[in-house]
Amino acid sequence: MKVSVKNKEPFQIKADAIVIPWAEGKKGLTAYREFISDIDDFEGKAYDTRVIYPPEGKTPYKKIIFVGVGKEEKIDREKIRGAFSRALQVARNHHVKTAVLDNSYNYEHMDRIKIAALALEGAILGHYRFLPYKTEREGFLPDVEEVIFVEPRRSQLNQLKEHLRETQVICEAVLFARDLISAPANDMTPTILGNKAKELAKKLERVKCRVLGREEIERLGMNAFLGVAKGSHEPPRFIIMEYKGGKSSESPVVLVGKGLTFDSGGISLKPAEKMEEMKSDMSGAAAVIATIKAIAELGWPINVVALVAATENLPGGSALKPGDVLKSYAGKTIEVINTDAEGRLTLADALSYAAEYKPSAIIDIATLTGACIVALGEQLIGLMGTDENLKSKIKEAADETGEFVWELPLWEPYEEQIKSDVADVKNTGGRPAGTITAGLFLRKFVGDFPWVHLDIAGCAWQNKDRPYIPKGAAGIGVRLLTHFLRIWRSS
Ligand code: BES
Ligand code: MN
Ligand code: ZN
Repeated sequence: MKVSVKNKEPFQIKADAIVIPWAEGKKGLTAYREFISDIDDFEGKAYDTRVIYPPEGKTPYKKIIFVGVGKEEKIDREKIRGAFSRALQVARNHHVKTAVLDNSYNYEHMDRIKIAALALEGAILGHYRFLPYKTEREGFLPDVEEVIFVEPRRSQLNQLKEHLRETQVICEAVLFARDLISAPANDMTPTILGNKAKELAKKLERVKCRVLGREEIERLGMNAFLGVAKGSHEPPRFIIMEYKGGKSSESPVVLVGKGLTFDSGGISLKPAEKMEEMKSDMSGAAAVIATIKAIAELGWPINVVALVAATENLPGGSALKPGDVLKSYAGKTIEVINTDAEGRLTLADALSYAAEYKPSAIIDIATLTGACIVALGEQLIGLMGTDENLKSKIKEAADETGEFVWELPLWEPYEEQIKSDVADVKNTGGRPAGTITAGLFLRKFVGDFPWVHLDIAGCAWQNKDRPYIPKGAAGIGVRLLTHFLRIWRSS
């Protein structure tokens, strides 16, 4: 989507349409009411839309798209993102190619620039479709090609442009993540994911990417990770992306993403129903790779590393079995109770490897537990961690981006549940508090560094359309991690 900024009043610009937000009861929020006739029967309920075709010559637009933002006192970032997302989807349905997005109002602490950025976020994220596998394109109308913002105050122009560019870069990284996740597992093997990371790194400045194969992973002794990979013919890959935007003496933030390109459960096979969704079990990996893309394109002065232990979890003849004991990279032994608790095995080794960087913080992001969906549903990320400062900065970023987190405790007494009779630890703690015992398991493999674990099992794949997240791969975590890095860098 092309984004342009014009130093004009909106009704001086030619475009197919203009999008105007409309608060309940308050009529248009726009400063340009003189140009539009009242539409008394439009209530302005959040995300409702109304398209009118103004008489020719009265405005420069063929269509005016009103979009509700709900009650004025309840307008927030999410409503603005959602409203503009819906408006742009409606615009597409009405064959609109170019649209002016009106941001000519103030709401509490949000100025016009902030509102423009939120509108653009909604427009880009809500417009996403995954079409590469559709050979019949009938019924799919082409996307809106260009959105236009107006800023009559010349002094504000550069600041607006800068904000919009940043928003666009970050949102395009989200779409990049969604593409990786949406791709079927036969076209998104660990090898292909590794190649995608390498291809991406080649296009970015100050990013180095190494992808380790089976032998190198064996040499490192990542046997927990390798245990998961045993049941598949697809070889595992350990993906390392390093972005050096800061001083070389500065310790990096290490991001670890769960990279199961398909999770069948292994010998502890999952039921068939919805198993196809397990192609999205690499959503954490997609998030950390896409975060590197965003910050490298923005050139932020910070050092960030992304690590992904990529593999499939399949029940082949040489697969991992319940009862097997694995010796992890850190040296701890793990008794495998359930081969479907594979994510934590791969993460254990990646988290221990993170210590090699002496990081200032470690954040892992993973579609880790079905229990997290039971506890928090599809709209909240489960957060656990060892460092108050790190946790509070992630929470701040969460509220800013609308990728909301909810903290769960790393409750010591539950460690009992993951004690093993034969090894140092076992990989499942039974049904009670399944998200927390997974977090407790991971903690054993994290060195003495500030660490946060994000369980995105509920949020990664959406089962129905949300205001600005179309059904399917959400690309969750990219905006959260990117905004977190902005906060971390400036502190
Ligand atoms: N990838 C799944 C978790 C998951 C389930 C993510 C549904 C998204 C939607 C994970 O590997 C898994 O299978 N976890 C098990 C752990 C259990 C065996 C302790 C689970 O949650 O059932
Ligand atoms: Mn599993
Ligand atoms: Zn999994």
